[in-house]
Amino acid sequence: MHPIPSHPNPSSDSAKPQAARETWGSKTGFLFAAIGSAVGLGNMWRFSYMAAEHGGAAFVGLYLVMTALLGAPILLGELSFGRHTRRGVVSAFRTHGGRYFRWLGWVPLAGAFLILAYYCVIAGWTLRYALECMFTGFPADPAKHFTEVSTGPVAVLLQLSFLLLTAFVVLGGVQRGIERASVILMPLLFLMVIGLVLYTGQLPGAKEGYKAYLFSGGFDDLFSLKVMVHAAGQAFFSVGLAMGCMHTFASYLGPNEPLARHTAVIASADFGVAFFSGLIVFPLIFTFGLQSAVGESSIGALFITLPEAFSGMGVAGRAVGTVFFLVLLVGALTSAISLLEVVTSSAMDLFSWSRKKAAWIGGAAVGLAGVPAALNLQTLDWMDRVTGNLVLLVAAIGTSLFIGWSMPDAIGVARQQGASKRWQSGDMLWRAWRFLLRFPAPIGLLILLASSLWEFVHP
Ligand code: PHE
Repeated sequence: MHPIPSHPNPSSDSAKPQAARETWGSKTGFLFAAIGSAVGLGNMWRFSYMAAEHGGAAFVGLYLVMTALLGAPILLGELSFGRHTRRGVVSAFRTHGGRYFRWLGWVPLAGAFLILAYYCVIAGWTLRYALECMFTGFPADPAKHFTEVSTGPVAVLLQLSFLLLTAFVVLGGVQRGIERASVILMPLLFLMVIGLVLYTGQLPGAKEGYKAYLFSGGFDDLFSLKVMVHAAGQAFFSVGLAMGCMHTFASYLGPNEPLARHTAVIASADFGVAFFSGLIVFPLIFTFGLQSAVGESSIGALFITLPEAFSGMGVAGRAVGTVFFLVLLVGALTSAISLLEVVTSSAMDLFSWSRKKAAWIGGAAVGLAGVPAALNLQTLDWMDRVTGNLVLLVAAIGTSLFIGWSMPDAIGVARQQGASKRWQSGDMLWRAWRFLLRFPAPIGLLILLASSLWEFVHP
């Protein structure tokens, strides 16, 4: 492992003095944490449902292209800005955002806060499903069961328990909490995913399932605006962009980091896990003839359809189902950690609070904000749509404009020292990066935003 030396704030001109900032213990630790933030509920159920709804291979290809052309450039921008400023997202924009973008940090902070509030509710259901699958098996009527699980006092209890678990990790700090948890949990997650892919690959419906949803189909609609919009939205949510998570994690990095390479690793791992989740989910669905139930709703696909499949598999289903829900739970936990860290680090910077105080007060506020979502499914849906379709997009447009146009010497900052020879010499690539942030990203995102607003007015 390569220890990252701590170093003084490189740009303290307009900044008030800071206490020594925590750093990652190793590159691997940072990478696992960042991949943990990216890989979450979005990769597993949201991806499968989207691929099913939009008819397969064409959507998957489009999602890959969107990740590469829109997601990765913004990710690199976020990493650069976070490492450069070495501050939480609000205070980074406040001190380095210049005249036009000083306010921008509040948007990702609000987004992270709201996403975490309802994300904990879904993670709470996942926790319950994992425990049920392990100890009792699922009851006969999965749809009715889902209604019981998803709202009410028990949902609140589970939401708060999950949040407490998240807070416990964040309280431990960057190295002893987040890094340690990620280094243990992420390899575990990869192993479980590979195990599940191998197992479901030999189910009778596997070939058909792959073919129908991942390797063929959907080319007729390839250029429809809706499919493109959804592919881009999926790429964004899945990589976990524009919510300050990547920014905050990068703010604990030292100066000698190959950020472009980190970007490639994080984005590929995120796409890889999404694709593998498809390899797991579709064979199950085809083997148990549940195709018609998949396209209905994103939540239904996971929490109603899959328990039905697992129940149909007898004892093996109990084991496979338990592993499946554990994968979801681990993915959700590592993502939630990154979201709570955004809130915590911002509170630490803004009010000079200790980590302990910031994590407790921030966590309590998030828990309170999530209670309405745990009591009412429509509230949850609403929070998801507002944050996923509006807040996230505004933050992403702001970030790409800021880094593309306004941040002084963005390329120099991004490639600072750590870039390998290949990247140093690849000036063309750096310019291509900035070009993507200047034109295609903001324009594409504006179209997305317009279409989202349209959907809000005409649901
Ligand atoms: N990327 C996470 C997922 O796929 C969700 C997330 C969104 C995490 C935004 C952080 C920020 O589930």
